[in-house]
Amino acid sequence: PKRVRIRHFQQAKRDGVKIVGLTSYDYLSAGIFDRAGIDFLLVGDSAGNTVFGYDTTLPVTVDELIPLTRAVARGARRALVVADLPFGSYETNPREAVHTAIRFMKETGAHAVKLEGGERSAEQIRHIVEAGIPVMAHVGFTPQAEHGLGGHVIQGRGEEGAEKLLRDAKAVEAAGAFAVVLEMVPSESARAVTEALTIPTISVGAGPHCDGQLLVWTDWAGFTTGRIPRFVKQYAQIGKDLEDAANAFREDVSSGAYPAPEHEYE
Ligand code: KIV
Ligand code: NA
Repeated sequence: PKRVRIRHFQQAKRDGVKIVGLTSYDYLSAGIFDRAGIDFLLVGDSAGNTVFGYDTTLPVTVDELIPLTRAVARGARRALVVADLPFGSYETNPREAVHTAIRFMKETGAHAVKLEGGERSAEQIRHIVEAGIPVMAHVGFTPQAEHGLGGHVIQGRGEEGAEKLLRDAKAVEAAGAFAVVLEMVPSESARAVTEALTIPTISVGAGPHCDGQLLVWTDWAGFTTGRIPRFVKQYAQIGKDLEDAANAFREDVSSGAYPAPEHEYE
């Protein structure tokens, strides 16, 4: 399969073809999603919640994400692999941001990086892009800024919110981002941004008018236990399937039903 490249993102927006992404944190899921034709795989710092069991994404480190990103890159033959820059690895100054982005590109096989923030991150985006590394931006609700935003609050609401969202989106476009994630914003605000930009908008809970859709795979596949955001549609219940399987295995071992003769060596 031919590798998805950033020019295909621009082409998709021009042609009105939707872009589809999922997060991935390992080789097996990456291969499955890749074979299914998912266009890009984000190795999100959502791994903090889904892989490492933290309450937020704030503790996640570059050293934790690098091996996961490497595994995803090995599993993806067609999909564009995006490495998420964790909290504390790019905010201080553009030099730090370029340094972190280069580490991911050298050490993982990812094809692009993602970082959070609109106007506040524009300089970082500009310098990373100048180093030859594609950047996916991320505005609206930005989980690394959860405490600054006062919790899991919908962004881009009201006239002021919509204007700030548009300013942030235009800033990352001007800085050279090839796409921008809009997280948890009203559909109409996302529509206005999508119409105003030439780069594609990728919705995470930003409604149907964006140029693409992205979900955290463990939410989407029903792997996660606990509360799932309103915008997630669950396409499977693998958490329940695995629990049922573990129960069945335990019962079979207790009863002696497993292993059966066909599982034995002579
Ligand atoms: O870390 C992540 O999974 C993300 C997406 C939800 C946008 O940043
Ligand atoms: Na993230």
